[in-house]
Amino acid sequence: MHFRHDVLIIGSGAAGLTLALRLPDHLRVAVLSKGPLSEGSSLYAQGGISAVLEEGDSLDAHVADTLDAGAGLCDPRTAEFVTREAAECIHWLLNMGVPFSTADNADGSKSLHLHQEGGHSHRRIVHAADATGRAVETTLEGLVRQKDNVDVFEHHVAVDLITNRHTGGDGLHCHGAYVLDRQQDMVVAMSARAVVVATGGASKVYLYTSNPDGATGDGVAMAWRAGCRVANMEFNQFHPTCLYHPQAKSFLISEALRGEGGTLKRPDGSRFMQDFDHREELAPRDIVARAIDHEMKRLGAECMYLDMRHRDTAFLQEHFPTIYARCLEFGIDMARDPIPVVPAAHYTCGGVVVDQRGRTDCPGLYCIGESSYTGLHGANRLASNSLLECLVYGTAAADNIAASIDEVGNGPTPPPWDESRVTDSDEQVVVSHNWHELRRFMWDYVGIVRTNKRLERARHRVDLLQSEIRDYYGNFRVNADLIELRNLATVAELIIRCAQLRRESRGLHYTLDYPDLDARLSPSPTVLQP
Ligand code: FAD
Ligand code: SIN
Repeated sequence: MHFRHDVLIIGSGAAGLTLALRLPDHLRVAVLSKGPLSEGSSLYAQGGISAVLEEGDSLDAHVADTLDAGAGLCDPRTAEFVTREAAECIHWLLNMGVPFSTADNADGSKSLHLHQEGGHSHRRIVHAADATGRAVETTLEGLVRQKDNVDVFEHHVAVDLITNRHTGGDGLHCHGAYVLDRQQDMVVAMSARAVVVATGGASKVYLYTSNPDGATGDGVAMAWRAGCRVANMEFNQFHPTCLYHPQAKSFLISEALRGEGGTLKRPDGSRFMQDFDHREELAPRDIVARAIDHEMKRLGAECMYLDMRHRDTAFLQEHFPTIYARCLEFGIDMARDPIPVVPAAHYTCGGVVVDQRGRTDCPGLYCIGESSYTGLHGANRLASNSLLECLVYGTAAADNIAASIDEVGNGPTPPPWDESRVTDSDEQVVVSHNWHELRRFMWDYVGIVRTNKRLERARHRVDLLQSEIRDYYGNFRVNADLIELRNLATVAELIIRCAQLRRESRGLHYTLDYPDLDARLSPSPTVLQP
């Protein structure tokens, strides 16, 4: 089966849906999601979206905070571009109907309520209580479903991008994607004049993560296989505070709690952040996550604690209703009990190299959102700059596609997906075994603290796994688990290779063999050529 659209958007998070809604109505658009349309990291975002909206704050300060968190590796032009566009994006979301939290002014009017988060010198986080992602995602989903020019393909998993390699043309060009229809259990070809990867991050490559199951780096792996450069994959952000409870899979305790005065404590009740950074609990995430990891390892403790007991129940329920209710389900009353927390993989700072319009190295292919590398985050992302990046680049890519698509003709018809040499898998256990092994060694060897030896061990194991996966992929019919495992292994390889190339500690990449910044270097991103 073969579908043809003007624009194929692979991914329906904040980045993909923004793009779909910002494109002109005369273009036929397809939006793909692996599961239900709203499922993805965007849905679970808590803290909010950063934007300069208040007197006393400034774009210069937002840029400075972004660059400071990024530890010398951000592209200042990108930081200036993104922070400049932030206010327009917030107003666009308000026009779309996103119900952001407001505060009453003295004159009876209302303005947006702003939170504070780590690394920000000012209150500038626009939010919808503590479920900002849900408010954004469900509003945009509702609007996309009403659009006549947009075809929604839920439960469709992109397997690989269709390039000249498949169609027989010269040079690099993307024409679409082969896509697994999970309900029909068949792979279809989808062609488009512009293809956009908006598949989110890859934190599922680690055993413990705040991310939903689909965060397997599919877009990064597909674009890499298609011939695009990737950059800065060594910078994996570990969120300092995920709920520590055997039944609480991937539940985040927002940084906004520390913005409201939450303090981190050892099991004996003593504070420790003052020993690590003068900003204490509001230091950037890499510092806080490493401090927690350090104290857990030093004391042999299973977790640290976040103490919110200085706030009463009414305040906590008003500002953090989701977190309050979720903790209570596990018998933790935030107003009375310190919350047990551990760090977990949260965000992929690196990704597919793009320009300021979201264009990749491969003509016809764009990449936006967490799967891209724009230069905004450098060696460490500033809190709440990610949803912002999704909105700004979703808009920039839409503008570029609208302006240029008339010059692009319909591409060649791709050959159908070839299943002539494969059979049904006889041993699905190979996939589940490799999936667990990969995520375990990535956590143990390529986690918050690295060494040369650990990276070498991980490299050796990922090479073995990849040859096994290649073999399996070549012989058996694809299914969603195999597609994700193959992509996770590719992403793991890219992370390890980037980490091995960075012989210093900077931002989120910390190695005991080179514990300091290499002051001799003028810092540059780690770029891998395919
Ligand atoms: P996602 O929202 O992850 O969407 C990815 C989409 O791609 C999904 O629709 C998925 O189905 C689809 N997809 C993936 N692979 C395929 C494939 N092979 N075929 C077809 N479809 C595919 N950032 C902030 O700025 N502020 C916050 O407060 C904040 N809080 C967060 C809280 C949590 C718990 C988490 C996990 C992240 C948080 N982040 C936050 C980060 C931010 O939410 C993400 O970086 C951002 O939402 C990513 O959006 P995206 O559109 O790039 O991808
Ligand atoms: C949080 O709410 O702590 C997450 C914010 C982010 O990831 O930017």
